Amino acid sequence: MDDNMTADALTQQVIERLEQCPDPRLRELVGGVIRHVHEFAVEQALTEAELMAGIGFLTEVGQMCTDRRQEFILLSDTVGLSMLVDLINHGAGSTATESTVLGPFYVEGSPWRSNGDAITDDLGAQPLLVSGYVRNTAGLPLPGATVDVWQNATNRLYAVQDDAQSPENLRGRFRTDDDGAFAFRTVRPLDYPIPDDGPVGRMLRATGRHPWRPAHIHFSVFGPAFATRLITQMYFPGDALLPFDPIFNCTTDTQARNRLISLFDWETTVCEQALGYRFDMILSGRDSTPWEKS
Ligand code: BEZ
Ligand code: FE
Repeated sequence: MDDNMTADALTQQVIERLEQCPDPRLRELVGGVIRHVHEFAVEQALTEAELMAGIGFLTEVGQMCTDRRQEFILLSDTVGLSMLVDLINHGAGSTATESTVLGPFYVEGSPWRSNGDAITDDLGAQPLLVSGYVRNTAGLPLPGATVDVWQNATNRLYAVQDDAQSPENLRGRFRTDDDGAFAFRTVRPLDYPIPDDGPVGRMLRATGRHPWRPAHIHFSVFGPAFATRLITQMYFPGDALLPFDPIFNCTTDTQARNRLISLFDWETTVCEQALGYRFDMILSGRDSTPWEKS
């Protein structure tokens, strides 16, 4: 390197090397990353030891990943990047249900089940009946929408984390009926610490953060048009962890945030069998669908 080269000139030189990149979006993205990491190094007067510590940390994040553990998603979630991308792409401002992160425990291909079915064979703990309607922003029901749900078990683990559970435990896909309604039986999920036995957990501890999340059920809903996908989470009223959850609190609009909290429902509560909770969802996006009722 030329002794007189400034940091700006060095950054510029690296970015110019991308000129031959045939994919304009890739050129923009890689160029952006280079610009921002260079700016970060200058702003922080990064030392060589700190650079090596950062490289070591990312190496460990990669080494922690398996087909059942996604430490990079956990990292993206815990530094707020997943929620930021969610905000950019599904920004707030409408009556639609707020979307949120997919999280590291989503597994594709959950078993199809019928409305009213249980998503577990063990309803022994605190049985629930979760039901709701899927509608568009005009209030029209969305029949035929796919409602994919997953949650943790009473040992606080998702099936994908736990060899003792059947891989299909506490997950399932449902289709909304003609009224846009869905329903399933389950057990009450528990609050849980996100996996903190790896580098992300170490980062949380080193920065004085806690790993706990309030009890929730994950939902991924596909409306009849692809543009109407919603990824969200349903919470429970009165959960003491709600004010401390960074994911829940990323939704800054109070009303929109409160719509993510399910309602206790006497009507669907079955005496001595299951408590009813109601969670309605509103999907935005293109409404041009042959399924839509007028
Ligand atoms: C989850 O709820 O599954 C989750 C979300 C973000 C980080 C870790 C876990
Ligand atoms: Fe979760």
